[in-house]
Amino acid sequence: MVDLTTKYLGMTLKNPLIASASLLTGSLDNVKKLEDSGIAAVVLQSIFEEQINKEIHQIDHFLFRNRDSFSEATEFFPQDEDFDHIRPDAYLEEVARIKQSVDIPVIGSLNGVSDGGWIDYATKLQDAGVDALELNVTYVPTDATLNPREVEEMYIKTIKDLKAHVKIPLSLKMNSCFTNPAFTAKQFEDAGVNALTIFDNPTLVDIDLEELTTLTKVNLTSSSSLSQTLRWCAILYNQLDIDLCANTGIHSGEDVLKALMSGAKATSFASVLFQKGISEVSIMLEFIEQWMIEKEYKSITQMIGSISLEHTDNPAAFERSSYMHALTTYRY
Ligand SMILES: Cc1cc2nc3c(=O)[nH]c(=O)nc-3n(C[C@H](O)[C@H](O)[C@H](O)COP(=O)(O)O)c2cc1C
Repeated sequence: MVDLTTKYLGMTLKNPLIASASLLTGSLDNVKKLEDSGIAAVVLQSIFEEQINKEIHQIDHFLFRNRDSFSEATEFFPQDEDFDHIRPDAYLEEVARIKQSVDIPVIGSLNGVSDGGWIDYATKLQDAGVDALELNVTYVPTDATLNPREVEEMYIKTIKDLKAHVKIPLSLKMNSCFTNPAFTAKQFEDAGVNALTIFDNPTLVDIDLEELTTLTKVNLTSSSSLSQTLRWCAILYNQLDIDLCANTGIHSGEDVLKALMSGAKATSFASVLFQKGISEVSIMLEFIEQWMIEKEYKSITQMIGSISLEHTDNPAAFERSSYMHALTTYRY
């Protein structure tokens, strides 16, 4: 028997597999199916700042800071139909229903970028029973005069505001677009987050050549997206005291094992569930267990961080030094 348990966000998870926030974690039916397939925890589909603030008629300047004037900005505001499927009160009712109906930990997900009334909603999620919160700050700075420090301060203020509102553990789903992600991650740790989800996976932008307009598309990944996740988990593992959850590019039992070795305590994923179905979770778990038996690993804890930047015998792979070698020795 191998011990698949791991500790994440102050909880003991029965294994390191978490369903990442998506449409699939927005309904009780699917969360039950995920639980049946062996998933250890779910991050619920996000409730968005825009959805909450629409209800309380507040729009923060950070959402529109690149627009010439507020009246012009409103035309960029998401359309009414974007809100219709999730109303904040109905969302809370579904969260409470999910929490009461499953035994696995349920992590709430708040998606926003700025301070304002939406932060009070975290308290309501806590009251609805979620075991922890994941904050997703998807902010794309498009203003060339905006100082990066100001962007980081915005994140830090949001984290501190949230921490002041809730007692449950908080993770930040971080994006990779910082000059020195390790420095920024440390600042988020200092601001009070209990874990970092490495990394968020932004939507894709495209251009429609018929309509001559821009398009936004959901970005389904494959295992080839795992590289960034592995690199930064490996770099952060020994430099932070908080938990890491590997996100983006986890598609198989192999990917989970690699992420744990790079330093993640847990992994979360969405694309594979859309591409292969919820039952893939049990296949991933079976692979992990079998691999551990073959390689004589007794526990998941044993392998966490074993191939992080500090512990690998080939640190060059995570750094610049391997870059020239890989490029110049490529054979075609
Ligand atoms: C259809 C879809 C909906 C998603 N909805 C959310 C969401 O509500 N909140 C969030 O933080 N991430 C959301 N995500 C992002 C996923 O949680 C995940 O971070 C991302 O897909 C990368 O993981 P993957 O490589 O396993 O897909 C969504 C992804 C997909 C594909």
